[in-house]
Amino acid sequence: MTNQDQLIKVKEFSYNKMKNDSTGHNFDHIQRVIKTVQKLLKTEAADPVITLSAAYLHDVADDKLVKDPAKLETEIRQFLKDTDFTPEQIDEILYITHNLSFSKSLSKNPPKLSLAGQIVQDADRLDAIGAIGITRAIYYGGANSETIYDPEILPREKMDKKEYRNLSDETIINHFYEKLLKLTGMMNTPTAKKIAERRHQYMLDFLDEFKAEWNSEK
Ligand code: ADP
Ligand code: NI
Repeated sequence: MTNQDQLIKVKEFSYNKMKNDSTGHNFDHIQRVIKTVQKLLKTEAADPVITLSAAYLHDVADDKLVKDPAKLETEIRQFLKDTDFTPEQIDEILYITHNLSFSKSLSKNPPKLSLAGQIVQDADRLDAIGAIGITRAIYYGGANSETIYDPEILPREKMDKKEYRNLSDETIINHFYEKLLKLTGMMNTPTAKKIAERRHQYMLDFLDEFKAEWNSEK
């Protein structure tokens, strides 16, 4: 099988797993991440097959999407084997998809990602900020019955993902302070950092405008 054929199969597999998701992770998210990965690959010398495959698969075994992520990882492993990936490639792809998340980056011993992993992580994070990021946060907040804003609620520095997801006082605006505004400083590659800075400023402008309108100052 050619690399091109392998990537077509990976895309198909990802599409079938993600198409029905309604948590803001649907296949549109994957396609945006892929586009950004392709852009980052122009300036970063990572293996394109590993990087693009990990990008297609990065949310398939997410614990927010599936009840049993370990079962999905086994399924992905088998699928990649059937698609002629080598055991080393399979290990690298699954290591990336398993260790990409924001909560893992904040842990005491954050996982070290290969350049391919850093690129996928940057692309995933770029899709969580800027105009798309604002839209996704509102979409997610609405789907999870979050309050839009409460000036009394301050950002929590306690970031255990499961815990903060269950907090009943989570607000959409607070999510910007807990996560979205932290992502720019966490970008791995210079190109992603540059894109992030522009999107970051857009979020700051949005928050200023939002609060001014909230207080009827504008
Ligand atoms: P990903 O795995 O794609 O990086 P997440 O699974 O953390 O992102 O969340 C999906 C989208 O929903 C992201 O855009 C994220 O910013 C947003 N989101 C996650 N948690 C919340 C929350 N508590 N309130 C509002 N938006 C959220
Ligand atoms: Ni994602």
